[in-house]
Amino acid sequence: MKYKYKGSIIYVLENYDEISIKAAQLLAAQVNLKPNCVLGLATGSTPEGMYKKLIRKYEQNEVDFSEVTTFNLDEYYPIDPKNTQSYAYYMKEKFFSKINIQQSQTFIPDGQAEDVDKMCENYDLMINKYGGIDFQVLGIGNNGHIGFNEPNIRFESGTHLVELDNETIEANSRFFDNKKDVPILAISMGVRNIMHSKKIILLASGEHKAEAVEKMLFGDITPNLPASILQLHNDVTIILDNAAAKLIVPRL
Ligand code: F6R
Repeated sequence: MKYKYKGSIIYVLENYDEISIKAAQLLAAQVNLKPNCVLGLATGSTPEGMYKKLIRKYEQNEVDFSEVTTFNLDEYYPIDPKNTQSYAYYMKEKFFSKINIQQSQTFIPDGQAEDVDKMCENYDLMINKYGGIDFQVLGIGNNGHIGFNEPNIRFESGTHLVELDNETIEANSRFFDNKKDVPILAISMGVRNIMHSKKIILLASGEHKAEAVEKMLFGDITPNLPASILQLHNDVTIILDNAAAKLIVPRL
């Protein structure tokens, strides 16, 4: 089902596979329309299916990433890129090593930077140098965070060091042997860079995301629920499965 709500297009699809297919179609269309585009990419469980579908499209010659540049939303801090929990490792393993993107065109905040402020400043400069992000992929945290911009962030921040919320540490502990191993800090490109993207797609799957999705769309625009700022963006496509859309469908 496809809905229009204020400035957003909302797809409510049957299941996770369907949202992965839809997201991959939109991203591939973006690359085909503008082969040298700049993509903003997310990690976490939600976009994994999308990356798999995109690899398949690449293998079938339906999309060519050779001229694409990417900027990832976030990275844990501090973390070695060789650590299997790092987002640098995730991107390499799950996507970049399986497509024809040039490694030098893939940017991820440096989880080992000694001078974090300088690194953050450079990350912002690089995004600007490439003309900003054309197409940003987002997931959403159970607490409404986007790109690790946790409740009570400043909407105007660019790339910066963030303290992860307890709820996020709890949610992400599923990837670690022990909750104590989950980093408590991360580097995020900030809401400002996200909001300056020309187009945004946000994916959510599962009932545990339903409340955050409902507040994002129908709640007040407030730093308490960072994703609510997307109500002010004029090109957002939200791709949900039935479970994540459970609380909003009756209101669309
Ligand atoms: C990851 C990121 C996070 C996730 C969010 C949801 O790059 O930006 O904001 O999108 O934590 O994570 P999953 O998809 O694992 O539920």
